[in-house]
Formats: sequence, structure tokens, C-alpha cells
Amino acid sequence: MKSTDIPQIREWFKEYAEGFLTDDEGFNANIRLKIDHSYRVLDRMEELADALGLRGRRRRIALGCAILHDCGRFEQLKRHRTFSDFRSENHGELGAYVIKQENVLKDLTPQARNIIETAVRYHNARLVPEKLTAEQRFFTELTRDADKIDIFKVIGEYYLDESPDKDPTMVHNLEESPVISDTVYEHFMSDRAFNFEEMRTVSDFKLFQLSWVWDINNREALMLLEELGYAEAILSTLPDTDRGRAAEAKFREFMKKHTDEAHLGWTEISREKLHDCRIFSLYSSQRLSIENKETTAYMVDAPDWVTVVPKIEKDGKEYFVMVRQYRHGLMKITTEFPAGTVEPGEEPELAALRELEEETGYRAGRLTWLGSVNPNPAFLTNEFTAYLAEDLTATGSQSLDEHEYVDYELIPVDDVVKRMGSGEYRNGTMLMALMYYLRETGKING
Ligand SMILES: [Fe+2]
Repeated sequence: MKSTDIPQIREWFKEYAEGFLTDDEGFNANIRLKIDHSYRVLDRMEELADALGLRGRRRRIALGCAILHDCGRFEQLKRHRTFSDFRSENHGELGAYVIKQENVLKDLTPQARNIIETAVRYHNARLVPEKLTAEQRFFTELTRDADKIDIFKVIGEYYLDESPDKDPTMVHNLEESPVISDTVYEHFMSDRAFNFEEMRTVSDFKLFQLSWVWDINNREALMLLEELGYAEAILSTLPDTDRGRAAEAKFREFMKKHTDEAHLGWTEISREKLHDCRIFSLYSSQRLSIENKETTAYMVDAPDWVTVVPKIEKDGKEYFVMVRQYRHGLMKITTEFPAGTVEPGEEPELAALRELEEETGYRAGRLTWLGSVNPNPAFLTNEFTAYLAEDLTATGSQSLDEHEYVDYELIPVDDVVKRMGSGEYRNGTMLMALMYYLRETGKING
């Protein structure tokens, strides 16, 4: 994805959504509701992306998911005059169809396109399907989180609105009553899922809406919800009864448990570069705890690392393209997946493709993100990302740096799995890449 992709998608969205405006002001109000919601979900996604440290392509995919997540709403309203999926059609599915039909993502890579379409399709599903890849799952869950935060804002405004002509379809025409039904109360208090049919009153519905936070996927999203205070309107309009008060206490306890982390944090007072090496810099940093205790932390600031798991099939058997080289830390020769550092300003996936080709001469037709971690956040600052490379073609020539001596060979996948962690398979980051590969290919799961 390029940096111009998001402004372009935004531009398309504006033109497309506003194209549904008619001379019926009642209809237009509903169209505007979804336009405004989409822009706010985009704002929330920016904040979540900051909190999660998403950069480059992954940040742009997140923003694309946010702006497009509800693009099926407009066609839904035009066709059926309702936002009820139950009484019309699934607006997530419809949105994914619209994106394809309108060719909105034509300039993106097939992988990026697929991830955004998947997130739009499942942003409103009751459950995220099991079969998704790690990257599809991550962005689908993130989209659901950003969406939920804004839904809390919208429903909160409804509950605080005291005008008699507010639209009761927002609460599915349920009876306004302080009664919380037995089954709804029991389910809420024991963290169990609700059935929509069990709800009798608006108070039931409020508990149902509060229970959505049990399913928020990212802690950063819970923290953002807490910071924005969007659940307060529901909480403050819960019935003043034993059940209402117990439900509020349970909700607040959940939020406190998951968002109150001030006692764990440290603030940086100053930072000093102690040494500059070619492959990392060493820093010291003065840090202050919430109890005003001071300490010196030392950090190794290294560039981000990428590792590629290149898979190839030959005569019905699966192989990895592995590299052998001398490792200065260990002072031994190791067998590893091709890997390297991300250069300043370089997209990690481009670094992965470049390293693969430089070290093995193989070009990949397809690159799939497998996972990202911080290799040791105790003192290392950088991020490690693993990719699966497929549809390989051999160019037959490496292009190594002056001080690089690298051999490559095809090794059966089974051998690598069996031998990882022993003998020449000594590089710990390769184990992370292999774990991700096994997860992606369904050989291990939760
Ligand atoms: Fe939606």
C-alpha cells in the first residue's frame, strides 16, 4: 500500500456516500448518520493505530478498514429503508460486495485488498470466523473495536436525549422500564452471551450493550473507551435498583481491572546516547515511577528486523529455502531463514523481499504477514516481523554485501521443524518465525 492510497479511498468514500443523498431530508439524515459515524471510526482507528504502534502498510490497512467498514449501509438503506440486518440483509457482506463492485481497492496488493474486504465483511458478525489468517483476524478484530467505541457514543447520546420524539428503533422498540429481566441479569453477571430474544425492556438492552466490552479484543481499545467516557451515559441511566447498581459495579470493576495501569508505568526524564555501533546504539535513560522512584534504564536501539519463511514445493514435498552463515555473537555457523534489517524509511515487506532475493536469489510472488513481536522489550527497542514467501522463482544469483558470506539450500519443512532449537538451528528469532508459520498453516492452533 502506498501513502496516497488512504486519501484516495477517503475521496471515493465521500463521493460514493454523498451520492445517496436525495431530496428526502428524513432519508438524508440517516445517510449522514452513517457518513459521520464512518469518519469518527476513522478518527478512533488513528488513535488505536498510535497506541498499538502501527506504522506504514499496517497502519494504512487499519485506516482503510475503518473508513470502509460501513460502506454497505448506504445501499442497505436505499434498498430496504432500514438499518436492521435482521429485517433486510447483512450490511457487512453488502459492504464487501460494494468494495469489489466499485473496484475501490484496485491499486492495492491482492493481500491488502483481501484483508480490508475481510474486515468489512466480518466487522458486524456475531463471531469472527475461526478460519481467518492471523493478519485477517487482527484487522477484523481491530475494526470491530474501533466501531464499538463509536457505537457507545451514539447510543449514549440517545439515552441522554430527553426529547419525546426520539427514534425508538434505536432500542428496537423495547418497553421503557426499570425492570431488568431475570435471564438477562443472570447472563450479564456471569459473563455469558446474550440472546437478543431474551430482552424485554430498554434496561435489558442497556446491559446487552454494556456486555459488548467483554468482547473488545485490544486492551488499547478499552483504554480509549475509558478515556473518552462513552459508556458513562448508559451507566448513568441504568435503573436505580439493586440490579441496576450491581450491573454498574460489575462493569466498572471490569474496566478498572483492564485499563487502570498507571501504577505500572514509568516516565522518561532524560536520555543519553552512550555508544554508537554500526548495528545498534546503546542508550541510558532516567525514569520515574508513579511513586517518584528514580532508576536508570539501558536500551539497545536496533533497527527493525524481518525474517522470511520461503516455502517451495518440489516433487510433492515441501521445502524451506534456508541460509547458512557465520554468526559473530555465537562464533559459529548457523542455519536460518533469510533475514535482515529494515532500512530507514523502508516498508518491512519490501525489506523482506529484498533480503530474500539478496541472500538466496529467490523472488517471491506472494508475501504474507505472519506476525510481529518485540524480540526482547526488556532492553531492545525494535520490532521483529516474520513473513511467509511463496510462488518463488529462482534468479540464480545472490547479491551480498562486501562482508557477507551466505550459502543457501532447500531443506525439507519436516526436518526444520524437528531440528529447530538444536545443532546448527540456534537462532532464537527463527523459532518465532517457525511458530508463526505453523500457526498460519493450521498445524498449531489455540
Ligand atoms: Fe457496521
